Amino acid sequence: MAILPLIIAPDPRLKVISTFVKKVDGRVRTLMEDMLETMYAAPGIGLSAVQVGVPERIIVIDLAKDPDPPEPVLLVNPEIIKLSDELATYEEGCLSLPEYYADVTRPAEVTVRYLDQDNEIQTMQTDGMLATCIQHEMDHLEGILFVDHISALKRNIILRKLKKFKREEAVG
Ligand code: NI
Repeated sequence: MAILPLIIAPDPRLKVISTFVKKVDGRVRTLMEDMLETMYAAPGIGLSAVQVGVPERIIVIDLAKDPDPPEPVLLVNPEIIKLSDELATYEEGCLSLPEYYADVTRPAEVTVRYLDQDNEIQTMQTDGMLATCIQHEMDHLEGILFVDHISALKRNIILRKLKKFKREEAVG
C-alpha cells in the first residue's frame, strides 16, 4: 500500500469529470487500497480517485471511529437510483480543502447502484452521514466540491485562502 499525494483546491484537476471504470480488476483494487491508506493517514472519512489525480469513478469511505474496527465502503461507478425529498444538513469538510468546513443541505436518503471490489453490481440504500458522504464523493466525480453548494462569497473566501496557503507551502 502507498500514501498518494492529495490535490488541494483550487486546482483544475479537481474540475475534471471522471470516467467510468471498465472492470474492477487488480489495478483498481490496488488503487482503492492506496486511497484507503491515504484517507486514513490524512485523516479523512471519504476520498474520490480524482483527488489523488486519477479521474475515474472510484470512491472510498469509512465512517468507523477509533477504536472501532475499520468499515471501508468501496464504490466503483456509483449511480444514484433514488434520492429522498426529505433533506438533511451536515457540516462538511474535504481533504482537498483542508481545515475548511461548511453546512451543506442534501437529500437525507440515497439509493446507489455500484460495482464492488469483485466487479459485482450491488445496490445500497442509506441515510444519515453515509448518505451525505456518498453524495459529497459522487460530486467529486462531476468536478463539484462541497463549497460549490454554499454562497459564492463564502466559497471565494475559502478558495482565496487556500491559494495563499499553497503559495506559501511552495515557497517553503
Ligand atoms: Ni471531498
